[in-house]
Amino acid sequence: MKHWWQESVVYQIYPRSFCDSNGDGIGDLRGIIQKLEYLAYLGVDVIWLCPVYASPNEDNGYDVSDYTAIHPDFGTMEDMDELIDKAREHGIKIIMDIIANHTSDQHPWFIEAGKSRDSIYRDYYVFRPDQGGLPSDLQSIFLGPAWDKHPRLGDYYLHLFAKSQPDLNWHHPEVRENINGILNFWLDKGIGGFRFDVIDLIAKEIDKGIIADGPKLHEYIQEMNRKSFGQHDVLTVGETWGATVEKAKKYSNPDGSEFSMIFNFSHILLDSLPGKEKWDYIDLDLLKLKNVFDQQQTQLYQAGWNSLFWNNHDLPRIVSRWGNDQEYRVQCAKMFGILLHFMQGTPYIYQGEELGMTNVRFDDFADYRDIETKNMIDQRRKAGYSEESIRNAIWKIGRDNARTPMQWDATRNAGFTTGEPWIKLNPNYPQINVASQIDDEESVLQLMRKLIWYRKESELKTLIRDGSFNLILTQHPDIFAYQRTYSGEQLTVICNFHGNECSLDLDTTNWVRILGNYSGKDAEIGLHLRPYEAVVFRGEVGQKTGLRD
Ligand code: NOJ
Repeated sequence: MKHWWQESVVYQIYPRSFCDSNGDGIGDLRGIIQKLEYLAYLGVDVIWLCPVYASPNEDNGYDVSDYTAIHPDFGTMEDMDELIDKAREHGIKIIMDIIANHTSDQHPWFIEAGKSRDSIYRDYYVFRPDQGGLPSDLQSIFLGPAWDKHPRLGDYYLHLFAKSQPDLNWHHPEVRENINGILNFWLDKGIGGFRFDVIDLIAKEIDKGIIADGPKLHEYIQEMNRKSFGQHDVLTVGETWGATVEKAKKYSNPDGSEFSMIFNFSHILLDSLPGKEKWDYIDLDLLKLKNVFDQQQTQLYQAGWNSLFWNNHDLPRIVSRWGNDQEYRVQCAKMFGILLHFMQGTPYIYQGEELGMTNVRFDDFADYRDIETKNMIDQRRKAGYSEESIRNAIWKIGRDNARTPMQWDATRNAGFTTGEPWIKLNPNYPQINVASQIDDEESVLQLMRKLIWYRKESELKTLIRDGSFNLILTQHPDIFAYQRTYSGEQLTVICNFHGNECSLDLDTTNWVRILGNYSGKDAEIGLHLRPYEAVVFRGEVGQKTGLRD
């Protein structure tokens, strides 16, 4: 069965940093409404809205204190309803971010649970009595112990993230019922689906040392599906840092019993070492990257569905992470787009990715806002790391790299706000912004529009949705290349992933070049690829395939 979301392109909005309509320095829902026309022009048909719920904002909304109320920073429920309606008029669906692994410590459930050991809310969370020390040496994902003492009860409670984000106990049926109620509240508003935050952690069995992928995980997801979103034609995507291709198959089973798809981070995790903190990154091994995508593309073929992404609000910008964001920024941004968007799956574009926005380098630690980054600075200072090593890690990996305001134009604050922005802008906004790219046929923005058009409108759309995937030049140290084939038609995507030039021994006689990332008089190529060059050919199967290896 075909689903609408198999032809969709999702645009992720981090509302605080997208567009501020009232000059308070914080992006808001009315700001998003103002930019719907831009999003329709880009061609996306789904918005994943990062959390806009009531929240003390310790973790920018991933600490929810009321799942059915809008934070005043972002506007009102009327604004939200208007956003859903106006987006629909532009052919765009909204998917909400559901944070169900934990709440804020300001959520009424946690406040009630903290009033007495007999509270009916105690079992909503994971409390353990103080038996002379921490219940276990489990570490939080944001560094430091995963247990904190409740100031009133004197018991420890579990928090896999910040101490203001207590974990819910999903083994308690009332918790699951409440979450289903929240999902149904939003579904009744006519939204297009959900993104489920760290969903693979919900079924933890802490006393057995099981954190991710608890034995009851899929049972709980299937229950949610039956009792809420499974009754609607919506897109659901689970965030699963621990997923493998095998697990992805189960989550995205075409029988529809779980999610539409998951975020499988296997490719993103290739520059970190297992068991090490993400701040201790290593160089990317291209052969491993090709292999991971090959697995995802071939093993989920007709057995599940992939999400396609390089970026999100937790990840550094891809042009800076694995590309050259200085002399080859434009080519790199286009190359990453081309490489990803011709694969099978649903692509996700994170705000600013369509412009080739880059990481930011704040010199002063006080300019960082992210709780994870701040915790890391504290921890590493205490552990004696040099200021320079801490700064380099943040510049490379920190989450604020992706959270600087959207760059709309070259005016003050990039047109993001007329007030004082909640976080500093990337100083490169006069050069990199929507206004300067909209009229430039050779811009990253126009290339992204073209990629979306290929997937949604062109005569190659069926091939892009349904074609098989075949990695080619598998052992080439610089080239990431693959073919998609469907019903006699074939696309060949060839990307030079590195900054050196290289020549390929391919016969292109029957291939027609349809797209590339070098412009102007440099556009035409043979098979001598320049730094980060990407090129796409179209051809028919049955003619010479062009491949010599
Ligand atoms: C994943 C979210 O994407 C991230 O921003 C957040 O900090 C953690 N989950 C905790 O909710």
